[in-house]
Amino acid sequence: MKCDSFGKCGSCVLWQMPYDEQLKMKTQKLKDMFKEFNIPDIEVICDKDEHFRARAEFRVWHEENRSYYAMRKRKEEGRGVIPINECKIVDKAIYNVMTPLLREIEKSENLRFKLYEIHFLSNSKGELVVTLIYHKKVDENIADDVKKLKEKFPNIDFVIRKKGRKFVFEKNYLIEELKVKGKTYKYKIIENTFTQPNREINKKMISWVLDKSENLSGDLVELYCGNGNFTIPLSEKFNKVVATEINPESIEAATFNAEINNRKNISFMAMSAAEFSELKKSGFFNGYDLKNVLIDPPRAGLDDKSRKFVNEFENIIYISCNPETLKRDLHTLAKNRKIKAFAFFDQFPYTNHMECGVILTKGE
Ligand SMILES: C[S@@+](CC[C@H](N)C(=O)[O-])C[C@H]1O[C@@H](n2cnc3c(N)ncnc32)[C@H](O)[C@@H]1O
Repeated sequence: MKCDSFGKCGSCVLWQMPYDEQLKMKTQKLKDMFKEFNIPDIEVICDKDEHFRARAEFRVWHEENRSYYAMRKRKEEGRGVIPINECKIVDKAIYNVMTPLLREIEKSENLRFKLYEIHFLSNSKGELVVTLIYHKKVDENIADDVKKLKEKFPNIDFVIRKKGRKFVFEKNYLIEELKVKGKTYKYKIIENTFTQPNREINKKMISWVLDKSENLSGDLVELYCGNGNFTIPLSEKFNKVVATEINPESIEAATFNAEINNRKNISFMAMSAAEFSELKKSGFFNGYDLKNVLIDPPRAGLDDKSRKFVNEFENIIYISCNPETLKRDLHTLAKNRKIKAFAFFDQFPYTNHMECGVILTKGE
């Protein structure tokens, strides 16, 4: 990938390294980090190194009559942001509207004044939700300007945000269709809730999890389920599934997603992983065969209560976006389990971020 902002923008810190080298470097880093755990060969799962992000957030920089997207500077260049002309890591749907959208916004003082950030969310059909975030009092008067914008960009729905206030034109979500192992799954993806940023890698992650759970049976417990990204396809492999997540809006999407995919064996619950782990004491799980658990926590990894709960399962599927906390958690979870598979999913080319998948089992 080539980009005008390489060396200036703080996002693509590995801008000088060819993509193949990045994969080698990151795989070696993981090998070194996890060598004490006797892991099998790392499966390296990658895809395109440009136009891969289905969601992105940009600051907006205003200069006289022009506005620019802006990114955090490289650390070495100090604090602050730099204006950028384009961004090649976002998918084509986002890439193609970024500049024309900003040129249109520039024409309306009401839309442009104190516009602070623009967030993009896209689906594979090229539909978008664009969120305009303001540092000013936003009232209903903005509606006429947004409606005009929407006439120019019929494939975009707009959300206007200002601390505490939100206006939606016409909806704040998209329906995404992901084809995994020959089957299409539908997902409602809601603006400002978690969705996997790299669509193609996400499909490969779901596929990997399905393959690795081929021989598992019984029921499944899932913590940090988001909108049911893994839950919906995995539920076809298990008898009953109970899946939880802290964000009620994600649980609303997950419940909707179970319906549109005709999955009837899943119970979703909106609560923290720690609270859910405490339910064991109340006998909540008596009707469940507690053998399999899938976890996909945020960067902080597992809290103490959730780690203790997860450690009671025979089979653990751990998806991690932070190798540091994964390593910390494996010190407990791998103590009396075998690590059967270890994958590195390159969700974030040109950055040092690494997403991993680990399969742990007490069985063979
Ligand atoms: C890395 S995302 C994974 C979501 C989902 N598995 C997916 O693939 O889209 C982590 C999720 O954990 C949720 N979360 C964050 N802290 C949590 C907590 N303490 N308890 C339960 N869920 C939490 C977030 O809202 C987010 O949806």
